[in-house]
Amino acid sequence: MSTPTAINASISVKKELVTAEKRRNPPGPNEPIPFGRIPSNHMFVCDFVPEKGGWQPPEIVPYHNFDFSPIAVVFHYGQEIFEGMKAYRPENTGSKSFYLFRPEQNAQRMYNSALRLGMEPVPVNLFLKAVEELVKVDAEWIPDAPGSLYIRPTLIPLDEGVSYRASTAYRFFVCLTPARNYYSKETGVSVYIEREIVRAAPGGTGATKCGGNYAAALPGLNKAKKLGAEQVLWLDAINHRYVEEVGAMNIMFVYEDCIVTPPLSGTILPGVTRSSIIELARSLGYTVKEERIDINQAIADAQSGKLKEVFGCGTAAVISPVDAFMDADRTIAINNREIGKVSTHLKNALMDIQFGKAKDPFGWRKTVEF
Ligand code: PLP
Ligand code: COI
Repeated sequence: MSTPTAINASISVKKELVTAEKRRNPPGPNEPIPFGRIPSNHMFVCDFVPEKGGWQPPEIVPYHNFDFSPIAVVFHYGQEIFEGMKAYRPENTGSKSFYLFRPEQNAQRMYNSALRLGMEPVPVNLFLKAVEELVKVDAEWIPDAPGSLYIRPTLIPLDEGVSYRASTAYRFFVCLTPARNYYSKETGVSVYIEREIVRAAPGGTGATKCGGNYAAALPGLNKAKKLGAEQVLWLDAINHRYVEEVGAMNIMFVYEDCIVTPPLSGTILPGVTRSSIIELARSLGYTVKEERIDINQAIADAQSGKLKEVFGCGTAAVISPVDAFMDADRTIAINNREIGKVSTHLKNALMDIQFGKAKDPFGWRKTVEF
């Protein structure tokens, strides 16, 4: 892991607030919120320009489109990384504060992603300042629980010209969108087992949150949707046999005596939710193993009833029970397609910490006052 660098000087953020006539209201409590579709009023922008001495003064500005030349590097060689995190509104809505969940983990992961893609890493303290200051400005956009405000920090190149090289200049920006459920269904999701194409291979970029990973996974997602599944279950690149993760989540298998999840092998995303659930579940008395899972054995165990539950976990999806595996020509139900006790227990325990309803013995919740 790389050592995070920080900007030495204290960071001050210039703010240009949206004018009264351009100001939009957040969706009301009874209005639908399609995931990731409604931007808040403001965004954070900070450019890295070597000729001007590096990171430029950061700004919070009205949400707006960017203007890029068709030969800008951003359109050609896939240098793009992002993060996903959330701000939570405390139950007492009168309070002038919100919670973030382990934000330094996202900052460090974005730093690592940048190095893997040959990009200028965003200093950890600039990342944290950006998120906190922007959410303070648009705090009214944080929906009531169980909704939350989804935060999307992103790093893109700014250079122009189609010769193949790493960009020298970069833009770090952060947008906010209110969120409720990631999946349209309240019940479990089904996953299509992709046995041919792979999402990531050893030595590749699977452990980074780069757009390219998601692009390469889209044919699998298209196939899944055609078959009526919500997501793809990815297998390892060598044997096409060991479970890796789901398109937008890590995955956990619940047996009678333990919970099993694939180890961080370098080809799956080191999820913040994954590592939190491992720690939380152990503290609640569950045995958690990080071990390889053979998909054919998991199918046999689902059929025999030995495999009790399967669930995906991630920031957007929180904990989403997986109620069926879909193979080429068969659907294998898990737990009679019912939501299981363990996933419900862990989901409630995690959300209680995130929303400030339970004590946080791990020090994960960060309260930001404004
Ligand atoms: N795996 C993939 C491919 C993801 O897109 C996500 C979501 O961010 C996760 C796992 C879960 O990561 P986290 O818990 O940090 O959100
Ligand atoms: C997240 O959970 O934050 C993600 O980035 C998943 C994304 C595909 C919505």
